Amino acid sequence: MPTSSSIFSSSSTPIFVTGAAGFIGFHLARRLLEAGSTVVGIDNINDYYDTALKEARLAELAPHPAFHFERRDIADRDAMQDLFHRHRPAYVVHMAAQAGVRYSITNPHAYADSNLVGFLNILEGCRASGTAHLVYASSSSVYGANTTVPFRVSDAVDHPVSLYAATKKANELMAHTYSHLYGLPTTGLRFFTVYGPWGRPDMAVFRFFDALYEGRPIDVYNNGDMQRDFTFIDDVVEAVLRLIPRVATPDPAWNAARPDPAISSAPYRLYNIGNNAPTGLMDLIAAIEEAAGREAEKRLLPMQPGDVYATFADVTALAEAVDFSPRTPIRQGIAAFAAWYREVYRGRLKP
Ligand SMILES: NC(=O)c1ccc[n+]([C@@H]2O[C@H](COP(=O)([O-])OP(=O)(O)OC[C@H]3O[C@@H](n4cnc5c(N)ncnc54)[C@H](O)[C@@H]3O)[C@@H](O)[C@H]2O)c1
Repeated sequence: MPTSSSIFSSSSTPIFVTGAAGFIGFHLARRLLEAGSTVVGIDNINDYYDTALKEARLAELAPHPAFHFERRDIADRDAMQDLFHRHRPAYVVHMAAQAGVRYSITNPHAYADSNLVGFLNILEGCRASGTAHLVYASSSSVYGANTTVPFRVSDAVDHPVSLYAATKKANELMAHTYSHLYGLPTTGLRFFTVYGPWGRPDMAVFRFFDALYEGRPIDVYNNGDMQRDFTFIDDVVEAVLRLIPRVATPDPAWNAARPDPAISSAPYRLYNIGNNAPTGLMDLIAAIEEAAGREAEKRLLPMQPGDVYATFADVTALAEAVDFSPRTPIRQGIAAFAAWYREVYRGRLKP
């Protein structure tokens, strides 16, 4: 198995990072470039949220000589075939997707295009170009209606409560098929509510800061009675970087008579990437008020369709695989976000 340093310093074998203009893809691309990789970033810079933020992330990556950007839609079959044929990536880190639970209620087709057709194009590209390892974003939302916490990768996840979750679960099934049929090593990452600098404006932490900054009330769903396993971006990046060289292999312990959903006789793996420490929504708001130095006016609202009550990651499999699990306490992560929001976002991007 290649070592992490041999992967990251080999300039002849590019790493594809899809969704490189997005929150997590941007951070991953940046760290891979710092480690000496050649990175081909792929993104269609769609307007699901402010494209100026996506352009600003790309502007941070652009000066790096080993960064190449391709503005492409992953749902465009011909364009993706061409990209894979030209670059023959050794590793593919697939972060591009239509994200967001609530948006999937009103815009279901965006999820079919990017998350199903787009994902198939990624699988086909990997198969055709002999990619050594596909690492792709799944989501904690696949746990759906499950209530036994912490969520374990070996739990059955057959009851999604949003179309977004269903497409992420579909990605895991599609990946397994390619691992089984073609021996393509695939690793799925179930991210748990990722936050931090350069984060997503549609997510709670960013929205609450925006509301406080602009003097608007914040919307508090389920009257604040919700919990999320908020996971700091630097921890997510560290976990993913350690998993890229850990190419998925068949697990001889897998038993077809009692199939463990987390492993397989095919080179297929799943990991939870979460903080293993859920935070109540009201505690999150208190941490944000503290960091922002002002109190929020709270508008208490009912639970939203597609939302789940609590998320909580069991990270045993991750810790065993890469000797690391996310650990940044919420107040520390929120302070880092607040500094970025003040100095970079409001200081220079959106004064
Ligand atoms: N941020 C989280 O808390 C979280 C939690 C669970 C799962 N995820 C998953 O992690 C991945 C990264 O999430 P993120 O928070 O960085 O989201 P993001 O929206 O910031 O990034 C996704 C990027 O993909 C691009 N994209 C979308 N559809 C595309 C298409 N058809 N072709 C090309 N590019 C396309 C977007 O323009 C965007 O820049 C996604 O797959 C998301 O579903 C994120």
